[in-house]
Amino acid sequence: MGGVLEQERRGEVKGEEVVPPGLGALRGRSLLAETDLSPAEIGELLDVAAWLKRKRAAGEATPLLAGKTLGLIFQHPSTRTRNAFQAGMDQLGGHATFLGTDDLQLKRGETIEDTARTMSRYVDAIAARFAAHDDLLAFAAGATVPVYNALTERAHPIEALGDLLTLRERFGTLPGLTLAYVGDGNNVCRSLLLTCAAMGVGVNVAAPAGHQPEPEIVDHARALAAASGADPTISLTEDPLLAAAGADAVYTDVHESMGEHDDPAKTAALAPYKVTRAMMARANARAVFMHCLPMRRGEEVDADVADGPQSIVFDQAEHRLHVHKALLVMTMG
Ligand code: CP
Ligand code: NVA
Repeated sequence: MGGVLEQERRGEVKGEEVVPPGLGALRGRSLLAETDLSPAEIGELLDVAAWLKRKRAAGEATPLLAGKTLGLIFQHPSTRTRNAFQAGMDQLGGHATFLGTDDLQLKRGETIEDTARTMSRYVDAIAARFAAHDDLLAFAAGATVPVYNALTERAHPIEALGDLLTLRERFGTLPGLTLAYVGDGNNVCRSLLLTCAAMGVGVNVAAPAGHQPEPEIVDHARALAAASGADPTISLTEDPLLAAAGADAVYTDVHESMGEHDDPAKTAALAPYKVTRAMMARANARAVFMHCLPMRRGEEVDADVADGPQSIVFDQAEHRLHVHKALLVMTMG
């Protein structure tokens, strides 16, 4: 692929026009699971996102998707994912339409596949947040345009892409970094494991028994890590201080995800996994605190960490915008 910076430097041309970096590089592709993009493609997506961030900071318009429409279908609430897709389409000169699943005939029994077939006749790509991952797969099977996973109970791959952009910007490079994930072995944890490993970032997961990521996810992450060239360590422990030791980033997420019910036993099991200043002190001196948001101060993280000098949670939130725009440009352009 040659990389966006090289492409930008060369001012690659198509006819009379300069081709913006990444435009159409993944045309027609969906993002349902972490491994739908190769490490090289993730690297290019991060380059395109960084280019789009620079353009926005410089106040330069990037109307790369004029005339294109993105459909959004969401079964759960969202602040970051929905806004990043909608604002992103506006900034790219296109348009986005939003539908909650309760607004659709889906609510009256129309099948997920028929909903996808119909929406595909109106829009150029669809971002979908379904509670159940199988529903997302059924939707994608019916769709004839790219479908982006906007979170399911199993995976949140686009979150991990934004987080990698944040880490890369902060530390200058990805291979060799170590991220400690402390808390519930949930959708965000799985996506971080697989995406970080593929990009050469080590992951230490600390989670209580019964709430750890599945062994096959950990094995898959180890295989991706070995193939990355950097061969970072992927570890799993019940000890949060051990996981945090020497890490470049300490990451956590809510202890109760959307669609889950109040579970006092789970709450009690996860209580010792709250990120505290003492835990941050075990990490590298340069370590950052990360959270996908929304967060509950006092539950999975103490407020003095969440709002402290090591916290980069709102950089993460911002970077969702830039990676969403990069994905749109590359797959719809
Ligand atoms: N992190 C994240 O996906 O946030 P939202 O649920 O607000 O989209
Ligand atoms: N694990 C959380 C992430 C929210 C962005 C959830 O699924 O609710």
